[in-house]
Amino acid sequence: MKINLLLVFGGKSGEHEVSLRSARNVYNAIDRKRFNIFLLGIEKNGTFKYVGKNIRGVSDFTKLMEGGEDCTLTYRDGNPYLLVFGRDRAVEFIRLDVAFPILHGTFGEDGTIQGLFEMVSLPYVGGGVLASAVCMDKEICKRVLRDNGIKIVPFYTLMKHMSEREKVCILKNVVREFGYPLFVKPANLGSSVGISKVKNSNELEKAIAIAFRYDTKIIVEKGVVGREIECAVIGNEKPQAAVPGEVVPINEFYDYEAKYIKSGSKTIVPADLDKKTEKLIRALAIKSYIACNLEGMARVDFFLTENDIFVNEINSIPGFTEISMFPMMWEASGLNYKRLIGRLIELALERKKVRDELLRSYCK
Ligand SMILES: Nc1ncnc2c1ncn2[C@@H]1O[C@H](COP(=O)(O)OP(=O)(O)O)[C@@H](O)[C@H]1O
Ligand SMILES: [Mg+2]
Repeated sequence: MKINLLLVFGGKSGEHEVSLRSARNVYNAIDRKRFNIFLLGIEKNGTFKYVGKNIRGVSDFTKLMEGGEDCTLTYRDGNPYLLVFGRDRAVEFIRLDVAFPILHGTFGEDGTIQGLFEMVSLPYVGGGVLASAVCMDKEICKRVLRDNGIKIVPFYTLMKHMSEREKVCILKNVVREFGYPLFVKPANLGSSVGISKVKNSNELEKAIAIAFRYDTKIIVEKGVVGREIECAVIGNEKPQAAVPGEVVPINEFYDYEAKYIKSGSKTIVPADLDKKTEKLIRALAIKSYIACNLEGMARVDFFLTENDIFVNEINSIPGFTEISMFPMMWEASGLNYKRLIGRLIELALERKKVRDELLRSYCK
């Protein structure tokens, strides 16, 4: 019997387009002999669209998003289903076995859709509700890491609702303690959307206004001079780290343009590191993963300076595009793209099994 897999892509986030690119690659790598693949596209406005099953020769997921029928996830007699609607009534119930969310950013990587999967008892690839939410929020993630003795780049938090006086006071401390350059970021975003590098006081106000367009909470960080090293981790109870990779952005920092628009940013896998540093980074990646309660997969990103290793951020649904580091780092560690995707699905099913053994009510 084939396993019914729901591939979820698109999403209500600034990273919708990136998700479509990742999803196409994941789709092509899923073993058709073992899985029926049902495609669920989430439009930018949040509408769920069922766009078909086992479609052959899809090269453009943007096109797929144009058709489709309204649908939702539901729970019936103890099992998860995709419920597809016709014009004004339900027309089809599709029994599901596992979901693979390839959604980046808000409403996909932040625990919200994971919560929906939990509600309908559908096993899913990647971190659970808590881990996803923690890693999505840069401020909370830093606090969890710091609490576990992991070095993070120092930061201050600003909230939109704070008074001007309060904000000015915090920014005075920021400049006094960190100097310039600074990095201003929305707390809950990704792909460098809304992030600015600030070199002097004139640029600070504008950077803050930009970040507040995307989130009501923003962080202001000390600028770090160092190499950008990334480390891929997979696993549930016993996570494993791949060989690290390095990104060398074409722009002054790894902004949206350097990531997805301009060519010229370099990815080096494996990163050129001495044995000791490599070991340290892999251990730190696993420690961070465990600290954040992650399961399934994650990519832990670092800054490597002359004297320090800082964890910058953790992505609980890393990119799966053709230039993405996560699959490349696994490839370099002996796990090719196809087997990686298969392993991630297995991990989702294994976690469900462990969870199903837990009691749900009081037992003497
Ligand atoms: N404190 C910092 N010092 C130096 N560069 C930074 C700093 N924070 C972010 N950057 C640069 O900005 C990029 C995006 O920031 P990051 O925190 O990774 O956000 P995102 O979740 O959008 O990827 C990083 O890859 C790096 O190039
Ligand atoms: Mg990043």
